[in-house]
Amino acid sequence: MKPHPVIQTPIPPDVIDLGLGNPPLSLLPLDMIRESAQQALARNDNSILQYGTEQGNGYFRAALANFLSDGYGFSVNADNLFVTTGISNGLDLICSLFTKAGDTILVEEPSYFLALRIFADHGLNVVSVDTDESGLVPASLEEKLAGLPPRFLYLIPTFQNPTGYTLTQERREQIVRLAEKHNFLIVADEVYQLLNYSEQPPKPFGAFVDSKHVISLGSFSKILAPGLRLGWMQAHADIINRFANSGLMDSGGGLNPFTSAILRGVIESGGLGNNIARLKQIYLSQIQVMDEALRRHLPQAKYTIPRGGYFFWLKFPDSMDIGALRKQAGAFNVDFRQGALFSSSSGLKNYMRLCFVMYEADKIEEGVQRLRELYLSKAAFTAA
Ligand SMILES: Cc1ncc(COP(=O)(O)O)c(C=O)c1O
Repeated sequence: MKPHPVIQTPIPPDVIDLGLGNPPLSLLPLDMIRESAQQALARNDNSILQYGTEQGNGYFRAALANFLSDGYGFSVNADNLFVTTGISNGLDLICSLFTKAGDTILVEEPSYFLALRIFADHGLNVVSVDTDESGLVPASLEEKLAGLPPRFLYLIPTFQNPTGYTLTQERREQIVRLAEKHNFLIVADEVYQLLNYSEQPPKPFGAFVDSKHVISLGSFSKILAPGLRLGWMQAHADIINRFANSGLMDSGGGLNPFTSAILRGVIESGGLGNNIARLKQIYLSQIQVMDEALRRHLPQAKYTIPRGGYFFWLKFPDSMDIGALRKQAGAFNVDFRQGALFSSSSGLKNYMRLCFVMYEADKIEEGVQRLRELYLSKAAFTAA
């Protein structure tokens, strides 16, 4: 089925949009980027303005590999990294190189709705696999594999968007075994891996790249700034070579060499690590504010407190149609995302995704209060 079209429009000034999954402007580190850009330019090295090496700037990949080795808890080799302009770009490139229109791919139910749009652009047949609080359910995956073999399985293993749930280590190993047995790729979107607020999550799928069935995608969008348009893929050298030898790289060279040169400094100076530590502290306090506000104003919502990532995933009584409720949200100057957006099988009508990173405490409190007022006017919107 076709995912819902979504157009990014500016938030009207009076509206508190608790749905939008963007970092706030106030936390985008302009000074840090300015300083590093000045240093990169002061080196008088013209090569940062040249076409880049296909796999991505080598100094940058070395700095990134070091950084990831610390953050991931295992040794990451720069040879297994390929520079992208973000996860969205990585997904598009994977679709271009590994699929053709009409191929089947598997996704979690629910899944990141904008990834579903990329898959739609490539004419892929999207089949959903069940999830629970421990992530994708291997038995459901096996069931789907008994039909036609997919080209790949797309999943967000850690602090998932929208649910916030994390796939257990045992299931990760099971899924890799199934990929090897049934010969499909695992495309793991690890965008929230480094944004953990309590315990350390299991290691990302990058730990399995020796298997040749895994591509692990990372991004600076949520740990530094989305406007940089920079990310990476981690995979076996054979897969990395496939990307590096693609027509896109042959013509245009490696992606974003100039920004990579600036970010190399941000990583080597420790700025990236400091930024992540700061974000974690702020976001953790915003989780507490949103949790308290929800318990006070919206006791009808059931949820698990997020341990990482960006989102609260709220479940309402089965009779609630949250999509219909959203149509009235403008009158209350509030917004959110309805669960149905994240479904590839027309389900999840009684779910709502809220983001806790975008606003400071007073706005979160005010936004949830407005949600309560909207919800209390709900009688007209309950599903038949
Ligand atoms: C699960 C997930 N993947 C990918 C992205 C986008 O990543 P990027 O900005 O690196 O393209 C987002 C952004 O919200 C996301 O939530």
